[in-house]
Amino acid sequence: MKKFFTLLVFQALMCFGISAQTPVYLDDSKPIEMRIDDLMSRLTLEDKVAIIHAQSKFSSPGIKRLGLPDFWTDDGPHGVRPDVLWDQWEQAGQTNDSCVAFPALTCLAATWNPQLSYSYGRALGEEARYRGKDMILGPGVNIYRTPLNGRNFEYMGEDPYLASMMVAPYVQGLQSTGVAACVKHFALNNHETNRHTTNIILSDRALYEIYLPAFKAAVQQGGAWGVMGAYNLYKNVHNCYNPILVNQILKGEWGFDGVLVSDWGGAHDTHQAIIGGLDMEFGSWTNGLDHGYPNAYDSYYLAQPYKELIQAGRYTTRELDDKVRRVLRLFFRTTLNSHRAQGFMCNDEHYDVALKVAQEGIVLLQNKNNVLPINTANARRVLVVGENAIKMMTVGGGSSSLKVQHEILPLDGLKSRLEKENIIVDYARGYVGDTTGNYNGVTTGQNLVDLRAPQQLIDEAVSKAHEADYVVVFGGLNKSMHQDAEDGDRLSYGLPYDQDRLVTALAQANKNLIFVNISGNAVAMPWKESVPAIVQGWFIGSEAGKALASVLVGDANPSGKLPFTWYAQLEDCGAHRMGNFPGTKRPDEDVFDIEYQEGLYVGYRGVEKFKTRPLFAFGHGLSYTQFSLTDVKADKHELAATDSITFSVKVTNTGNREGAETIQLYITDVKSSLERPSKELKAFKKVQLKAGESQNVTITIGRDALSYFDDRLHQWVAEPGDFIARIGTSSEKLTSNIKFRLK
Ligand code: BGC
Repeated sequence: MKKFFTLLVFQALMCFGISAQTPVYLDDSKPIEMRIDDLMSRLTLEDKVAIIHAQSKFSSPGIKRLGLPDFWTDDGPHGVRPDVLWDQWEQAGQTNDSCVAFPALTCLAATWNPQLSYSYGRALGEEARYRGKDMILGPGVNIYRTPLNGRNFEYMGEDPYLASMMVAPYVQGLQSTGVAACVKHFALNNHETNRHTTNIILSDRALYEIYLPAFKAAVQQGGAWGVMGAYNLYKNVHNCYNPILVNQILKGEWGFDGVLVSDWGGAHDTHQAIIGGLDMEFGSWTNGLDHGYPNAYDSYYLAQPYKELIQAGRYTTRELDDKVRRVLRLFFRTTLNSHRAQGFMCNDEHYDVALKVAQEGIVLLQNKNNVLPINTANARRVLVVGENAIKMMTVGGGSSSLKVQHEILPLDGLKSRLEKENIIVDYARGYVGDTTGNYNGVTTGQNLVDLRAPQQLIDEAVSKAHEADYVVVFGGLNKSMHQDAEDGDRLSYGLPYDQDRLVTALAQANKNLIFVNISGNAVAMPWKESVPAIVQGWFIGSEAGKALASVLVGDANPSGKLPFTWYAQLEDCGAHRMGNFPGTKRPDEDVFDIEYQEGLYVGYRGVEKFKTRPLFAFGHGLSYTQFSLTDVKADKHELAATDSITFSVKVTNTGNREGAETIQLYITDVKSSLERPSKELKAFKKVQLKAGESQNVTITIGRDALSYFDDRLHQWVAEPGDFIARIGTSSEKLTSNIKFRLK
């Protein structure tokens, strides 16, 4: 009581600007490290142990006696998850937690627009502030190794450079509001099947060149305050306390000074958690629904058991103090940051960000005979087909599931846009997929049950298609189990629910067929040649229908580019070609070994290596206008180790409407001591141009863009010799090659 009173007095003095007696840790003008030192001297062993593990499903305690508030986390990464009960996954039923759903991160990556990524993070941070959250469990940057990964939609694609460029501004935007990012899932969580028991085996080169760069960028460029350790194992140790990944690489090589948070239930051992660098433990045993026991927080690996080991003299407080210092640093950055941004929720600005990201991220994959945009001057009747035109996508998929203030469905978006032009919009179901709409107690309230036989649904759609000027099918996946959802991968590459048969039948009935694929993953498209227009529509959140309608009608000119390779068949993907998916069970242990035998040859890096032809290449995406790239030059042809080299290209919009193009630069190392992929993305720039307008785009790269990770030396190396800069508008449309030499 006395101490509490003292604190109040200190705080009152601070309000009046009287700082003489203010304890150092409460003095804003002092450097954070000094404030941490001061606080450390005031903490008991109990205090220290208390703040490094959860007290509820999503929170950990502060220290009331010293005025340190509780710390609240929440998912992540596409909006602020509805509150759940203290000790269960079930939603708490609050009435103030309906949020804006921003587009899934695959869509954000497809914008190739880092400024938008900043706006996304900022808007999300403001929503989190409104909801009293101090840390958002995201963004996710696990590499798209296989299109079967159920969680690819939460990540930023297959390329380490693109993911790095997109994740850093998200983190900065989010943290500019005083809300911590928790970049996940560190690392090698590239599949959901057996996610708790999969041990990943891969080369150091693949680890450093493919799977780690985006995490490194989030930490070093983004300045992330939190990282979440993944469920899976690497070198036989779970990743949330993996000494190599966490201590050696993250905290050692990269100098990360934030907290390593366990994924929920990712810790399994006190000793390993102590020495392996885990700073905050969440989710152990407290499921309360299907395993474990409720209110088990004192029994956490880093709770009572840890305290007792220290009291018994088995550990000093050396590791504990490091964890606590990190947690206190996190507090000073968030809960104790008196300059935090204000919170806003569901305001127009946030919806604008959601809409803009969706519009810029939608990818026009194919547009034969310029079927798109829908010609509103001539069309009388448009037929919309498919369950995904009427199904809410913000509920489901796992921990990223949301409770939204609104979600505009594709059919509604198209109706409200086309009916303005007196165009009749008709609808046919076409197929029945997943009619449920519930996640942890949040329900969509939609009744999607349709008991008609599949053939009846196809017949109805085909007969209506004959009468329509355009047919727009909204198909794809839907975030139900095995259809892009957490904790389970997809079971096959093909579209579910007989959609191929539906699309093939519709292609025969109407020549103006448009297929909009709703998913976070590529899917097989055996009918590609017979469908003139194909659009990748992602899971795009609250403004979905509005964004899709604006692109289909041409109010917005698409400029999204694929953040992954769209394989023609699963076997073209290195992970499946080399045949080790989803791993091999050890005979007498509950561990699955999965070897990344394709090594560096992930995505487009494997396309040339394996001599395959994707349906759509990494970086591909069309526009309703055209662009030309001319006058491609370099400012030098030879550079010294410390130099940089600048390329310039004149980009002209040669069509008759405004649009955006993304200039992509890939590097080829002509000859290297270690084998390298034939090209790697090292820079890009997106430019917006009016019809007829030109702009000189310059792109500068340095030595890091020429380097590879030499596993013999354990360092990045740029070898002197010849390189080629390949410039163009997708990984397979590189129209200019400029040779240069590193001295
Ligand atoms: C997921 C995390 C998520 C956490 C909390 C885990 O199952 O893997 O991504 O942040 O749950 O919901």
